[in-house]
Amino acid sequence: MVDALADRRQRHDSVSPIAPEEVANVRRPTLAASVLPPRAFHDQSIFDYEQEAWFAGGWVSVGREEDALTPGQYFLTPVAGENIVIVRGNDGELRGFYNVCRHRGATIVEEACGTLPRFQCPYHAWVYDLEGKLKQPRHTELLVDFDPAEWGLIPVRVATWQGIVYVDLSGNAEPLREYLGDIAVELDRFDLGALRRARRIDYDVKANWKAIVENFSECYHCPGVHPQLNRITPYDSGSYLPSNGAAMNSYMEVLPQFETLSMSGAADGRAPMPGMTGEDDRRIYYSAIWPNQLFSLHPDYLMLHWVTPLEPGRTMVRCEWYFEPAEMAKPDFNPDDAIEFWDLTNRQDWHVCELQQQGTKSRAYTAGRYSSMESSVHGFDLLVADRYANDGIMTPQDRVRKQDSADAIRERAKRKALGNAAAD
Ligand code: FES
Ligand SMILES: [Fe+2]
Repeated sequence: MVDALADRRQRHDSVSPIAPEEVANVRRPTLAASVLPPRAFHDQSIFDYEQEAWFAGGWVSVGREEDALTPGQYFLTPVAGENIVIVRGNDGELRGFYNVCRHRGATIVEEACGTLPRFQCPYHAWVYDLEGKLKQPRHTELLVDFDPAEWGLIPVRVATWQGIVYVDLSGNAEPLREYLGDIAVELDRFDLGALRRARRIDYDVKANWKAIVENFSECYHCPGVHPQLNRITPYDSGSYLPSNGAAMNSYMEVLPQFETLSMSGAADGRAPMPGMTGEDDRRIYYSAIWPNQLFSLHPDYLMLHWVTPLEPGRTMVRCEWYFEPAEMAKPDFNPDDAIEFWDLTNRQDWHVCELQQQGTKSRAYTAGRYSSMESSVHGFDLLVADRYANDGIMTPQDRVRKQDSADAIRERAKRKALGNAAAD
C-alpha cells in the first residue's frame, strides 16, 4: 500500500497542472514580480496536485502531543484526504496509522479523540493493538496464504517538535528538525511542549488555503483590517529572521505601553514564558511553516493555526491558544482577553480572504503586483511557484527578503522625515 501511494505521488509529481512559463513572473524579484496566477486559487486539478504532491509528499503538522499523552490516548486528523489516527502506545511511543481496516476497508475509529485499549473495527470486529498489530480474526484460520502479522494497520511516519506532531505520508522526507531549519534552533531555548491548551476554535473559511497563508505572511493589510492589532504592534515594525528551512520567520514589535496582543494590550498578570529574553518580551514571533502551520509566539502565550484545505475554495482553520501550566493554575487565570483579540483578528482575516477568493474568480482579474511590504507573501508564493514549475529550480529567498527589508527601512525613514518636517 505504501508503494502504491508512492507510485501515485510520483505520477502527480510528473504532471503538475502549471507549467514553468505560467509562474515565470512570480519567480522574479519581488518588486518586479506578479502574484500567483488566479486559477491557482480555484482549479480542482491544481488543488488535487497540491494535495497529492505536497500534503501527501512530506511533513505536515497535524496536532499536539498533549492530545496523545497516555497509552491509548489518540486523535484523528485529516491529511491529504486521508483519515489518520495518532496514538500513544503502551510502550510510550507515539505512532500514526491510516484509520482504515485491512479487511474490507471500513473506517475503524469514529470519535475525533479519546482513549482506547485497542482498535476494534465497527464492521466485523477485527482487532488491532495500539501498535497496529492485527489479532487473528474469527474465521480466518483456514485462509490460504494469510498471516495476521502481515495485516496490521498501515503505519504513517510521525515526529514531534516542541510538542507539535507532524506526519510524513511519503515516508521519505528529511528528518523533521532538518526540515524545519532555523526555527528549530532559534526556539531551542523554549519548552513549548510543556504549554497547555486553553481554547480551540475551528473556522470554516470560504477561501483557498494559500490565500490564508499569504494573509498571515503580511501586515500590509493591518492598518485597515486590524485597527486593534495595529494599535499594539504597528504594521511596519519588526523584521525578517533567518529562514533557511520550511519556516518563514519574522517578528513584530510590541509598543512600550503594551505587554502582549490582547484586547487591552495587557497580559493580565501573566509572567513571560520561561526562556523569554528581555528582547523576546517585546516581540511577537511569527512563522509560516510549509505547508500548513501558522505559528505565533507571544511573550505570555503561544497560538497555533492549522490550515487544512478541504476544497479549492474552502479551508478548515483550527486555532489554538496555549499557556504556561503554572499560570493556568493561578486562581485568577483568565485568557479571555487574548483569545477574544485573536478570534476577532482571525475573523477579520477570513473575511478579506473570502473577498479575495470571490474576486480572483472574475474573468476581469489578472495576477496583480506585490507592494514592497509583501515580500514574505512573495516568499511563500515562491515556494508554491517553484513546486508548480517542478523544474528543479528553487528561487533564492534571501535576495527577496533583503530587498524588502531595505525597502521598508527606506520607507520608514522617509515617513519619519516627513513627520519631522510637518512638526517643524
Ligand atoms: S471492514 Fe473491518 S472488520 Fe470488516
Ligand atoms: Fe491579518
